[in-house]
Formats: sequence, structure tokens, C-alpha cells
Amino acid sequence: MGIGGYVTLAAAGVRADELGLDARVIADLPRYPLPALLIARLAVDERCRRLGLGRGLLLFALDEALVARDRVGCVGALVDAKPAVIGFYERYGFVQVLPSVADGKVGRMFLGIATIADALRRP
Ligand SMILES: CC(C)(COP(=O)(O)OP(=O)(O)OC[C@H]1O[C@@H](n2cnc3c(N)ncnc32)[C@H](O)[C@@H]1OP(=O)(O)O)[C@@H](O)C(=O)NCCC(=O)NCCS
Repeated sequence: MGIGGYVTLAAAGVRADELGLDARVIADLPRYPLPALLIARLAVDERCRRLGLGRGLLLFALDEALVARDRVGCVGALVDAKPAVIGFYERYGFVQVLPSVADGKVGRMFLGIATIADALRRP
């Protein structure tokens, strides 16, 4: 058996006004991009799907967001999801923050760090 799936992560920045937050909340946040963790690639081999591997890779990524929060700051996780996998991320609480990026084929989704900490039962 070879590699069943993989995930790659990258440091990213997100502007407060991209997150669909209330205007009063945005007013209290810095104008510069806020640090976030981008799930750059997350894929499971077709022969290994629906076995829980994608969930495990996602939970690993979300745990890394908490590590980043504690060390350098991190407001949440971002992913650019193709239409076929938007439902996968929605299952874990991600919300679409931009309908699509330039090519119209992927939607940027976001999961806030407080929700991640609650889900992984961390302070
Ligand atoms: C999306 C993907 C990572 C899911 O991997 P997986 O190992 O099959 O997922 P899991 O078995 O861990 O499924 C976890 C849950 O998500 C659900 N799920 C899986 N794929 C889904 C999809 N495409 N849409 C909606 N729900 C999905 C499962 O039913 C399961 O639900 P349950 O906990 O209620 O049983 C995989 O289908 C994939 O690699 N897709 C193509 C690559 C891609 O486009 N990646 C994302 C953008 S980088």
C-alpha cells in the first residue's frame, strides 16, 4: 500500500473584512492582514476515500493552527475548496467567505480559531 493521502500547509494572511464579520468587530481589528493557516492541498487517494483519512488529515491541520496560534498568532484556517468538496469542509464548520477566487472554480472558506479550539477541546 502506498500513500493514502496528504495535506500541505502554508502561512497566510486574511483581512478582517474578508471574514464576513460584523462591522463593529472589524473596526476593532488591525488594518493589516491577520495571520492564518492555509490548507494548501488536502487529498485522499480515490481507493482510500470515505474511510476517515480526510477527516484525520483535516484534524491534523487544525491542530497545527492551534500550534501556530500559540507561537506566532493565528485567527483560523483557510481553504480554497472546489465545489465538489465544499460539503466536506462545511461538515467541520468552515463557512464560505468569498464565493470564488479569480478563476471562479474554488471558493475560499474559513474556520475561526475559537471554533477550532472548541472542536479539539483546547483552552
Ligand atoms: C475531500 C476528501 C479529502 C475527503 O476525503 P475522505 O478520506 O474521503 O473523507 P472522510 O472519509 O474522512 O470523510 C469525513 C466525512 O466527510 C464526508 N465527506 C467526504 N467527502 C465528502 C465530500 N466530497 N462532500 C461532502 N462530504 C464528504 C464523509 O461522508 C464523512 O462524513 P461522516 O463523518 O458523517 O461519515 C477527498 O474526497 C479528496 O481528496 N477529494 C479530492 C481532492 C480535493 O479536491 N481536495 C480538497 C481541496 S485541496
